Amino acid sequence: MRVLLVASAFNSLTQRVHVELRERGHHVGVELALGDDALRAGAARFRPDLIVAPMLTRKVPEDVWRSHPVLIVHPGPAGDRGPSSLDWAIHDGAAEWGVTVLQAVAELDAGPVWASVPFPVRAGGKSETYRNEVADAAVEAVLQAVERFAGGWYAPDLAAGRLGRERPYHAQEFRRIDWAVDSTATVLRRLRAADSQPGVLDELYGRAYYLHGGCAEDRLRGRPGELIASRDGAICRATVDGAVWIPQLRPRRTPGGPATYKLPAATVLGPQLTLAGVPEVPVSPQEAAHRETWSEIRYREHGEVGYLEFAFPGGAMSTAQCRRLLRAYRAAAARPVPVLVLGPPRDFFSNGIHLNVIEAAADPAAESWANINAMDDLVEAILTTTDTYVVSALAGNAAAGGLMLALAADEVWCRASSVLNPHYRLMGLYGSEYWTYTLPRRVGVEQAGRLTSAALPLGAREALGLGLVDRVAGGDAAGFRRWVAGEAEELARSAEMGAWLTQKKRRRAADECVKPLAAYRAEELTRMRHNFLDPGEPYHPLRRAFVHKTCPTETPAHLRG
Ligand code: COA
Repeated sequence: MRVLLVASAFNSLTQRVHVELRERGHHVGVELALGDDALRAGAARFRPDLIVAPMLTRKVPEDVWRSHPVLIVHPGPAGDRGPSSLDWAIHDGAAEWGVTVLQAVAELDAGPVWASVPFPVRAGGKSETYRNEVADAAVEAVLQAVERFAGGWYAPDLAAGRLGRERPYHAQEFRRIDWAVDSTATVLRRLRAADSQPGVLDELYGRAYYLHGGCAEDRLRGRPGELIASRDGAICRATVDGAVWIPQLRPRRTPGGPATYKLPAATVLGPQLTLAGVPEVPVSPQEAAHRETWSEIRYREHGEVGYLEFAFPGGAMSTAQCRRLLRAYRAAAARPVPVLVLGPPRDFFSNGIHLNVIEAAADPAAESWANINAMDDLVEAILTTTDTYVVSALAGNAAAGGLMLALAADEVWCRASSVLNPHYRLMGLYGSEYWTYTLPRRVGVEQAGRLTSAALPLGAREALGLGLVDRVAGGDAAGFRRWVAGEAEELARSAEMGAWLTQKKRRRAADECVKPLAAYRAEELTRMRHNFLDPGEPYHPLRRAFVHKTCPTETPAHLRG
């Protein structure tokens, strides 16, 4: 079928649906919902058999849904209606939620139901839940709905949507935290229901900020509402019965002032933290692995396998974050375990250099340079590890330099639902992270050229077929983690491990003779320096648009299909 995806942004869920429908042989196009006329024109151009809207924040015009069947993905169970479904589910502490695919009608979320899939809600942030449980349920529901539609035999449920309850927009009045009264559990629910957007509006040192993200703290305590510690850019704030960590802040925009965006909380507060005597309270990756506290990096061992787990908000890795991970990587690689597994337990593996931190720097070009060099140092350390067998385990998505980081390992294992974006072009960058060494080595020169120029997302199965990744496993994030542990332990026990490591050493030495790693890096960085410094390059405006979430004026041509 010709399926047109209509979406407010080509976000992770839209990309996932794109990948899954393409894998099932459908011809898929994308039209961003940038206005009714553009949508009409897009539909007329693509001539779809079916329109699917995986993430839509505006209404489809009546003439479009009257002339084409339009299926809308709603992140709530059948009967739930309104624009803040997931926020309410987390706010209320729902144990189970769902995703429903409804046909567009005049009334929002009230059309005939084509499919509805439930999922359990675990304690976690909204955006992480969206990219995990919601995305899995949404894909299942969309595939069911598309199959039912294509079969022509299915009668959608006309009543379920119409009988439901419409809940209002989850405005700041519902999100407010009363630090003098609210328990840690309540504070965490409020923070998690708002974690990516819009954040919880609050006040710190007399200024208004949106708080983004929330993590429990097991030991630190203080006067309710007081900032009691900072760590690696995050701040810890006391509650009536404990404390919570807040990783990112966004200042409220002042009337007529510049647009604001999320940054590490300690960066935003800067000297105020020092003036207030808020101490930096570090935790080692080993200690963090056994505690309930904020840490972007954890290290643990089980049997013959070391696990270096890292999880950076939005998958973005600043210069400081890359350096911390490099330190932890060096320590982990020096441990007497034959196998080292890299990657977070759920969600993004990495999305490359930290565009927001770069945007906020006094000299963004210089900060871009520092950041890419810090990424390269990390990748180089992985590429030159010869006494340990290194595995990248991708429980979630990875893009640009963050995906190339994964490719530095000996093997790349991937959850079937991961979406991979092996390209830099959309950010106006040539890219580094030794991709000119690792990518062609895996997929061949021609395919590497195709992937980096097409700039389309790849599914894990397609990536496996191309040799971009080595093993793929289905299931949820917890199941993937168990599967990774099983495979890694088997690898570590293998009688052939010694021979593999010898072979790895030989191959690295042989590759170094053909072309030294330093030469790959120097060539890539020459191109990147040009991207960062040449005034005619598109990188700076593209980065600014990304950070400020500027709406594009038209659907990018490479997505139209
Ligand atoms: N730097 C800073 N923030 C980043 C980031 C980066 N490299 N990559 C993602 N983020 C942020 C997003 O702005 C978003 O923030 P929000 O929570 O305020 O909305 C959050 O992380 C999640 O990303 P989002 O874009 O919503 O996720 P997605 O899964 O829909 O899309 C990508 C993922 C990777 C396609 C998209 O985020 C992207 O293009 N990132 C930039 C990749 C890049 O060019 N990196 C630099 C070159 S190495």
